[in-house]
Amino acid sequence: MLTYKSNGRHGYIGVRVKVEYAHNEHAFDILKRSALLKNQANRASGELMNMVRTCSKVLRQRGVRKFVGWLGRRVIQRVFAHYWASRIRAYKPADLEELLRFSYGVGLGIIRPTQLRDELLPLLSLVRDLRPTRLLEIGTEKGGTLFLFSRVASHDATIISVDLPGGPFGGGYSQWRESLYKSFFLPGQKGHLVRKDSHDPRTLRLVKSILQGEQLDFLFIDGDHTYDGVKRDFEMYAPLVRKGGLIGFHDIVPNPREPAIEVSRFWEEIRAEFRHYEIVENWGRGYGIGLIEWD
Ligand SMILES: C[S@@+](CC[C@H](N)C(=O)[O-])C[C@H]1O[C@@H](n2cnc3c(N)ncnc32)[C@H](O)[C@@H]1O
Repeated sequence: MLTYKSNGRHGYIGVRVKVEYAHNEHAFDILKRSALLKNQANRASGELMNMVRTCSKVLRQRGVRKFVGWLGRRVIQRVFAHYWASRIRAYKPADLEELLRFSYGVGLGIIRPTQLRDELLPLLSLVRDLRPTRLLEIGTEKGGTLFLFSRVASHDATIISVDLPGGPFGGGYSQWRESLYKSFFLPGQKGHLVRKDSHDPRTLRLVKSILQGEQLDFLFIDGDHTYDGVKRDFEMYAPLVRKGGLIGFHDIVPNPREPAIEVSRFWEEIRAEFRHYEIVENWGRGYGIGLIEWD
C-alpha cells in the first residue's frame, strides 16, 4: 500500500485496499468454512463412533433378536422425530400420572425416562410444588426427565440441560435430538441444551452466564455416577442453588449388578447434613432418588 501512496496515486490506493479487503474476506470465508466443515466432520465421526459403541453394547447385552428390534425402533424414531416433536409440543397433560404415561409411551419410547415410574411420580409432585423458575439437569440422555421437569416448572422458567455427548452412564444424545428436546419447552420458557462435560469449569461458567446472577430452584444430578463424578457435580453446582431450593440425586440405592454406580456412597456422606427425602421403590433393586433441601 505504501508504495502506491508514495507514487501519489491515491485513487488507486482506494481500489487496491478494496481488492485486498475483498481478497482477505474471501480467504477468511474459506478458512471459516473449512473450520466449520472440520467441526461438522469431527462431530459426525464422534456421533458415528458413539452409534457403533452403543450398537455393539446392545448386541452384546441383549442378543441378535432383541438388537434387531431395538435398531428398528431407533430408525423409526429418527425418521418420525419431527412428527413426535409436534405431538410433544402440543401435548397438555390432565394430571401427573397421565404426563408420566405419555413420557414413557410416546414415539415408541423416544423420550422414555431412565427412571422407575413409581419413583418419578413423588419426585414430580415435589418439583411441581416447588414450581421452579430456574432448573438445571445434569444428565439428560433420552430426555425423559428434562421433558417432565419442564412440564411441571413455571411457565416462564429457564431450563438448562447439561449432557456430555458419548458420556458414561447413558451415552448422551445425538444431534438430531436437539430439535426434539426443544419441543419440550412451553412458549414462555427458555430452554438451554448444553452438550458439554459438567466437570469442565467452562461449562460452569456457561451455566452461570445463562443464569445471569439468578439462583437455581432445582438441581437434578444424574450424570457421571461415579463417587468422584457425583461429588464434583455437587460441589460445582450446589452453590448455584437458592436457600430452600432442592437438589436431587438419582441412583442413591447401591446396585450390586452395576458396581460403577457409586452415588449411594456420596449420598450416605451428605444426607444427614440436610433436611432430606428418599424416594425408593425397592432397596434391593438399585435406582432410588434422594433429595436435599439446600440451606
Ligand atoms: C442416566 S443418563 C440420564 C438419564 C435422564 N436423566 C433420565 O432420567 O431420563 C446419564 C447421562 O449423563 C451424561 N453424563 C455422564 N457424565 C457426564 C458429565 N461429566 N457431564 C455431563 N453429562 C454427563 C451421559 O452422557 C448420560 O446421557
